[in-house]
Amino acid sequence: LTDHFTLANGLEIPSLGFGTWQIPDGDDAYDAVTTALAAGYRHIDTARGYGNEASVARAIADSDVPRSDVFVTTKLPAEIKTYQGAVDSLAESLELLGDDHVDLYLIHAPWPWDDIGSDHSAGNAEAWRALEDALEDGRARSIGVSNFSVSDLEKLAAGARHRPHVNQIRYFVGHTQDDVVAYCRANGILVEGYSPLATGAILEDADVDAVAQRYGRSVAQLCLRYLLQKDVLPLPKSTTPSRIAENADLDFTISDTDLALLDALEDPTA
Ligand code: A2P
Repeated sequence: LTDHFTLANGLEIPSLGFGTWQIPDGDDAYDAVTTALAAGYRHIDTARGYGNEASVARAIADSDVPRSDVFVTTKLPAEIKTYQGAVDSLAESLELLGDDHVDLYLIHAPWPWDDIGSDHSAGNAEAWRALEDALEDGRARSIGVSNFSVSDLEKLAAGARHRPHVNQIRYFVGHTQDDVVAYCRANGILVEGYSPLATGAILEDADVDAVAQRYGRSVAQLCLRYLLQKDVLPLPKSTTPSRIAENADLDFTISDTDLALLDALEDPTA
């Protein structure tokens, strides 16, 4: 848990993050983040769209861990594609987080959720200018995107002053988006993986279970370790204390043979 990846601007990011998607605001989010911090997580991933930033911040503030030891990510809602909208939304997030900066600020998606797949590159370029300004004046220590394809990344790069430090994508055994990962790698963009357990769908997979048993590990641990060995930062979500701890215990190594076996598996959600 002390391990980290280093972003292109030199900022260190703890190599395991705690995902808070679908954890309701209030006691649920507060308790989950409290448990995660006690279990050793030092990286919390939230979003304006999750509605739980205030509870995340309260859990960090009430913990024994100094705020400066925790890496906090939040995100610009996918619907906001204007410069001023992005400036205002970051201000709201900082207010909810009770802070003057966030460690990583992401554009949540290249398109609004009710318009998936359509071209919003002009809006993304506008919003990106606001993220670049936040990076330059310190409101964000690093900036990036989420759910961006190669084409989305190429369009963004065309007019940008700064390239994204991170692209956060849906990534799990059997769903590895190799074209996006290759582009990110070639351009110094760290890949973060959300839904690293396929939101639970991978846990019943007999092929994955057979590999996990060889290491005396759970399927969840094997799947998270798989991301680390692919240089993809895992963001597992759980509200169950025993699982939160289990998901942070990844101190083992998957052999090259087993990595190749996992690489060849089909998408469990397809
Ligand atoms: P819960 O939150 O009830 O503990 P993902 O990170 O891919 O989105 O997956 C999250 C889902 O996987 C949640 O339903 C979560 O359940 C479950 N989960 C998380 N960690 C584990 C684990 N170690 N063992 C079994 N299920 C897990």
